[in-house]
Amino acid sequence: MSWVSDYQYSLAERIAMRTLRICGQIPHHVAFVMDGNRRFARSQHIDKIEGHSRGFEKLADCLRWCLDVGVREVTTFAFSIENFKRSSEEVDGLFNLAREKFARLLQEVARLEEHGIRIRVIGNIELLPLDLQKLVATAMLSTERNDKLFLNVAFAYTSHDEITQAVETVLRHGNEDIEAADISERLLEECLYTRHSPPPDLVFRTSGETRLSDFMMWQLSTSVLYFSNVLWPQITFWHFLASILAYQRDRWQLDDFRRRERMHSLELAKTSHFYSERVQKFLATIDEDRRKLLVRVAAAN
Ligand code: FPP
Ligand code: MG
Repeated sequence: MSWVSDYQYSLAERIAMRTLRICGQIPHHVAFVMDGNRRFARSQHIDKIEGHSRGFEKLADCLRWCLDVGVREVTTFAFSIENFKRSSEEVDGLFNLAREKFARLLQEVARLEEHGIRIRVIGNIELLPLDLQKLVATAMLSTERNDKLFLNVAFAYTSHDEITQAVETVLRHGNEDIEAADISERLLEECLYTRHSPPPDLVFRTSGETRLSDFMMWQLSTSVLYFSNVLWPQITFWHFLASILAYQRDRWQLDDFRRRERMHSLELAKTSHFYSERVQKFLATIDEDRRKLLVRVAAAN
């Protein structure tokens, strides 16, 4: 199964998609919390890994819908650090599925380039088995020049860990140049895995759970949250469409809130040392260091 499916739209779906684009704003960035795979597997009397595999197929459909509707960034929660607490059989099964999918991704680099899709794995990839780290790093490097649609796969991710890693980045790489007075919201934000992404406009969680489960908690303060009872492997184009409509209905009040928050954050940045030469010099090293790490991991034996 490819990362972007060849979804065949019905006539009604085509008309609905065109109407949606004409009638309202399309979210720039959509995040999916793909929940309910095991309940789906139980209901169909199939193995839970098969449930996750069907979940991947739906992710490929979702990517196709996002591309066609005009969403430019997608973030998806594929494996929480909390999921390490599941049975070793399930964790191994999920890692095998990820191995298969990232290996497949490397075979279809040309197709991803055609669509301009860049894959970024956000999370603490050092927690993963070495061979999977290598696959993930190679996938990220192979698509790094694409810039039409960004797909962030949160894998070995929690917000608590992301924020902890951000603090560690400041302490480890800021050397003696970064002082306590330099610490600001803007600085920490630049040290998150998502430093180059705008916050999600819309978050879609399936399976009836109305929690964030430690997903992008820093980034979601001004996002439209949309919860649906459908289990992830059963999501259809119409569920996706309903979430975009909910965004179009609710975004007004959030836009205003976002404007005020941006002003507040700019004010804070002005009063901190965010624009000082030493802070900017430190920030310039982050991407470089992260890329070096990927190259090292991808080249490891
Ligand atoms: C949540 O459902 C889903 C997961 C923990 C895994 C999601 C992973 C995929 C869809 C595969 C993605 C793979 C790649 C490489 C992107 P659940 O297990 O919590 O199900 P439940 O809520 O019914 O128990
Ligand atoms: Mg669940």
